[in-house]
Amino acid sequence: MAEVIIVPSAEAAGSLVADEIVSLIAAQPNAVLGLATGSTPLPVYRALSERRDEMDLSKVSGFALDEYVGLPASHPESYRSVITREVVEPLGLNPEFVHVPNGALESISHAGDDYEAAIADAGGIDLQILGIGTDGHIGFNEPGSSFASRTRVKTLTEQTRRDNARFFDSEDDVPMHCITQGLGTIQRARHIVLLAFGAGKARAVAGAVEGPLTASLPGSSLQLHVRATVIVDEAAAAEL
Ligand code: GLP
Repeated sequence: MAEVIIVPSAEAAGSLVADEIVSLIAAQPNAVLGLATGSTPLPVYRALSERRDEMDLSKVSGFALDEYVGLPASHPESYRSVITREVVEPLGLNPEFVHVPNGALESISHAGDDYEAAIADAGGIDLQILGIGTDGHIGFNEPGSSFASRTRVKTLTEQTRRDNARFFDSEDDVPMHCITQGLGTIQRARHIVLLAFGAGKARAVAGAVEGPLTASLPGSSLQLHVRATVIVDEAAAAEL
């Protein structure tokens, strides 16, 4: 059972998670952060960048959850670009220490194993920041994903492509495939912090926190984790 914290706003959640990360880095200067994309974690990155001067970030490393397949890394909506823009630059992280799964078609057959090896080499993820999709997906582990899954290629659902169309010119421009850390990969992080804001996430949050353990709602896998914290606003908590 995850610890659930209800906060008045996304900004309040951002400063709460930033506090946690500041303490983590003070205790462990080579901390490994699990980085999520999407709009949900932005208040965390904003709050952290405001506290940049309090931290020595020179040894901190990061691993993104996922990436689109076949979108050039230089595309503004590739998760490589998003992580660079929203996290690496504002925080001044060493770009060489920040990893994103490789969605290039040429290396896709081994990109999943390469990523798993890189996470293991770094000593595993200390704190994983997560958002959740309206259908309960975490990372890009869509409904039906195995709880034991590792970093691999997945097909995006119509719902996720519709949800993410706002970042592209049209829904047709949203890639069909992605490469994502698996539910088993995420499960290995030492601390998981899932954030969700707004009424649109209420059903997914309720399923993740209180629903049956089911591959139909990938977020429910967090119930198996020994240290999962769910931080939500009132609207996202409405169905709990
Ligand atoms: C994408 C990402 C997920 C994210 C989800 C929710 O599908 N791959 O990691 O949690 O979107 O996005 P948002 O936070 O914008 O609602």
